[in-house]
Amino acid sequence: MFCFGFYGKGRSMHILAIETSCDETAVAVVEVRPDGACTLAARVYSQLAEHAPYMGVVPEIASRAHLERLPQLVDEVLAEYGQGFAGLAAIAATTGPGLTTALAIGAAYAKTLALGAGLPFVPVNHIEGHALSPMLADADLKPPYLLFLLTGGHSQLVMVKDVGQYELLGATLDDAVGECFDKVGKLLGLPHPAGPMVETLAAQGTAGMVPLPKPLYDTSLTLSFSGLKTAVREAVQGGLYQPADIAASFQANVAAVLAKKCANALKQTGAATCVVAGGVAANGAIRAALQAACAEHGARFTAPPLKLCTDNAEMIALAAGLRLLHGLVPQNALAAAVLPRWPLESLSGSNG
Ligand code: KG4
Ligand code: ZN
Repeated sequence: MFCFGFYGKGRSMHILAIETSCDETAVAVVEVRPDGACTLAARVYSQLAEHAPYMGVVPEIASRAHLERLPQLVDEVLAEYGQGFAGLAAIAATTGPGLTTALAIGAAYAKTLALGAGLPFVPVNHIEGHALSPMLADADLKPPYLLFLLTGGHSQLVMVKDVGQYELLGATLDDAVGECFDKVGKLLGLPHPAGPMVETLAAQGTAGMVPLPKPLYDTSLTLSFSGLKTAVREAVQGGLYQPADIAASFQANVAAVLAKKCANALKQTGAATCVVAGGVAANGAIRAALQAACAEHGARFTAPPLKLCTDNAEMIALAAGLRLLHGLVPQNALAAAVLPRWPLESLSGSNG
């Protein structure tokens, strides 16, 4: 059990959440209160091995694996939770963005459970889950804060004004940073998703040994990674450099650009706190660079623990609970469609 916050006052609710937007099947029960949250049970089944031979996520394989694993994971989480459906306030699922067929399995399963148990269903935006996830581990973190969202599909600077109120400040023009790590890893012969292995390889090399660009290292909040990826391809094909030095030089430039963008956003918004979230937030060099940029600008820096950086159901349960507490769940939630595209900023001003 992992808890934060002050207990003993305020409303509390237990949420069962299902996350199946990509290649992780995840289920959790989280207690959500206005003043904190507490994971009561959680499981993640990673489909990595199933997708590995194809060097990417295959939607058909993902949905079949979700279908095969989900019932057992839900049973295990409910057994560990121990209070049955009677203890739950709602059942939530990620309904976008993500792979349509993968999303559909988690959403249909959660809706069916909710109907059967007579509980409300809460549709959750996956990116909102990542945006709020640091609150699961940081008792003092409350909006407003600056969010640097770094996943395999998104690279965005977002002002989290409140639960459900998000302003997009800047984003990538092309590849997401995680996607770039994965493509660079592929160029270096590493299996998908290569991000963590690029970091391991970089630790054996020397940054600065390979001349690579720092794209859009300027005062804007716009990011771009495709040029850096192309430069890495040329460095690999040229055969002059050690793979570890290429990885280290690449990672250092990404970290430098992200730190610069973070500093720009802190200057522009005057935010007192900066949060990094998403799978790439697991990268130590990137965390360190962002932490240094925050320290330089007198801002507090926070990042979720590693297990909450990558896809999980705890963040979906937290987002669902906070939406319920803020009265932000649509009335016809059971009719919510799965949305392969669902920008975070589109949530502002609506109830989901
Ligand atoms: O947030 P996430 O689990 O899934 C979504 O995209 O929603 O992020 C996955 C991405 C992948 O591109 C993966 O390679 C990258 O995060 N990643 C990393 C590291 N760990 C995961 N990239 C760089 N360094 C890491 N340590
Ligand atoms: Zn994600």
